[in-house]
Amino acid sequence: MTHLSIGFLGFGKMATAIFQGSSSFLKEKGISVYATDKYTANIERNNINFLSIEELLNTVDIVLLAIKPQQLNELADTLRSVSWEKKCLVSILAGKTLDNFHQLLENCPHLIRVMPNTAAQFNESMTVISHSSNTDTHYLDFVTDLFSCVGKVMHVDDDRMNFCTSLCGSGPAFFYALADSLVHLSTERGFSEKEARELVNQLCKGVASTLDSSSDSVSTLIQSICSPNGTTERGLATLHGSQIPDLWKAVFIDAEKRAKELSNSD
Ligand SMILES: NC(=O)c1ccc[n+]([C@@H]2O[C@H](COP(=O)([O-])OP(=O)(O)OC[C@H]3O[C@@H](n4cnc5c(N)ncnc54)[C@H](OP(=O)(O)O)[C@@H]3O)[C@@H](O)[C@H]2O)c1
Repeated sequence: MTHLSIGFLGFGKMATAIFQGSSSFLKEKGISVYATDKYTANIERNNINFLSIEELLNTVDIVLLAIKPQQLNELADTLRSVSWEKKCLVSILAGKTLDNFHQLLENCPHLIRVMPNTAAQFNESMTVISHSSNTDTHYLDFVTDLFSCVGKVMHVDDDRMNFCTSLCGSGPAFFYALADSLVHLSTERGFSEKEARELVNQLCKGVASTLDSSSDSVSTLIQSICSPNGTTERGLATLHGSQIPDLWKAVFIDAEKRAKELSNSD
């Protein structure tokens, strides 16, 4: 199958980021794009065909489900009314496992679960993908290519997706929380908001580039900044003395637990 069609069901922040990042790819490949009218007010409307939810579900080859996990229940009957044998369901819903969808939908062989993050809007998402064993490779290849347009892609087993949801999906917010503390501290030291953002932004960019480019381990990178009894060593002593590394892990573990709860809730 060369020309597929894709329908976005839910067109909020993530769907918008995915669509904007991949629109050239979709156009180049001649992929028809569909969405439901009500939910696309803020995006460039060229190249999108608007249909009702029912029409969209019956028209497209690939349904990209991008509603909130808590909204799945209200769409359950509509999703059940579709014949899925020759379609692929792609879900980006936090916590909703492949098993959840197998229970929800009878005979849905082509099922892909994706967890991107909001850096997709700048083509820097870390996206993880799992899929059911029956999923046809042409769907999987297409979805892999689609999400490669908005960053990097890694394939994982579904039982690691909740952790990846915490690490990659929620992770940016946890890094922003650190950045936010540093912006506040900088303004307390007399920098304007704009200057503080510039200082913190470039710091984060330099760290990300170094992590990406260097072959050294993270602990070697840390050690390379330390000199005996220097400023870095003093800061690291406070970091370890107050168990911040364990607290950081707890943040991600709690987010992972919430993903598991979402998989068990309606
Ligand atoms: N945001 C992230 O960082 C992130 C990262 C990875 C994965 N995700 C996952 O992505 C999904 C969407 O998140 P989001 O941040 O994009 O949320 P969002 O901005 O609230 O988008 C959800 C969209 O779905 C629409 N919707 C709700 N019910 C619908 C229905 N019955 N039919 C059609 N559209 C419907 C909503 O419209 P209304 O506003 O009118 O209800 C809204 O536009 C979530 O499941 C989340 O777990 C999010």
